[in-house]
Amino acid sequence: MPDRPRINVIRRFPDAVIERAERDYDAAVNREDIVWNGDDLIAQAQGFDGILSSSGNKMPAAVIERLPDRLKIIACYSVGYERVDLEAAKARGLIITNTPDVLTESTADTALLLLLAASRRAREAANMIVDGRWAGWEPTQLLGVQAGGRRLGILGMGRIGRALAHRARALGMEIHYHNRSRLGLDLEQGAVYHESPRGLFSVSDFLSIHCEMTPETEKLVNAETIEFLPENAVVINTARGGIIDDDALIAALKSGRAFAAGLDVFAGEPKLDPRYRELDNAFTTPHIGSATVDTRNAMGFRALDNLDAYFRGENPPDRLT
Ligand code: 8YV
Repeated sequence: MPDRPRINVIRRFPDAVIERAERDYDAAVNREDIVWNGDDLIAQAQGFDGILSSSGNKMPAAVIERLPDRLKIIACYSVGYERVDLEAAKARGLIITNTPDVLTESTADTALLLLLAASRRAREAANMIVDGRWAGWEPTQLLGVQAGGRRLGILGMGRIGRALAHRARALGMEIHYHNRSRLGLDLEQGAVYHESPRGLFSVSDFLSIHCEMTPETEKLVNAETIEFLPENAVVINTARGGIIDDDALIAALKSGRAFAAGLDVFAGEPKLDPRYRELDNAFTTPHIGSATVDTRNAMGFRALDNLDAYFRGENPPDRLT
């Protein structure tokens, strides 16, 4: 059909997502999964009405300003959108959408995985088997920190933070949080609000990061704030790596000031600070927060729902600009 909108699917998303895109659009698909940025991204936008993009594709003002006039909408396959300059998009009438809700549960599952893995020394335990070093059970072998009965501090009590709180209550953890504003009692579910990050850090036997990456939250976990944490704290991050100052966390992990960290996201990823690879008490995963078949399909469908709404002449449901 010649009148179908032209969209560029600029990553190799799951098959079901690509099939739907090709069914409903005149779609180009980046099957080689090359990560286009800068001039390449601008070149890839030529001749298209819409783009289905990922958070790996950086959209600073310098790129957005040079996108072709024909391009009207970029549907991001992510909930986070810190790599898109929304002001620049707004200024030229470009619609940006994201994919909230659909990855809440799988990201909270990943945070729980990291919380348990870090506190129970899963990396060392797994390596002991894999390396053939297990000589037998010992009374004090690989002793970890029990989650039950301890305080979990949630930095950023949005959808994902609350979904982790729900899981952590089942472990018997006491929930504390800091947020830009206090939640209603229905959403708090008994969690204790702290007006400042400092207040939250000072009670967080476990600290899990769920806030957005903004200039205010960049390196919020740093040498000074780590000192507010109780001894032997466990730090978990499934949000954005830049919220942690790696030098400070690595120093705390090395000295034993912090018991362990569970990290799924890293500043400058995929080139993470190599020192994490050497630290037995850093349980690290490669940004798998939303990596389930169900969720990755749902993210693609949600992004396509936004494109569909726009091309039907409606307001896209997850419109950011
Ligand atoms: C995405 C994420 O899968 O949605 C986000 O913000 O961090 C991830 O879960 C990834 O960014 C791909 O776009």
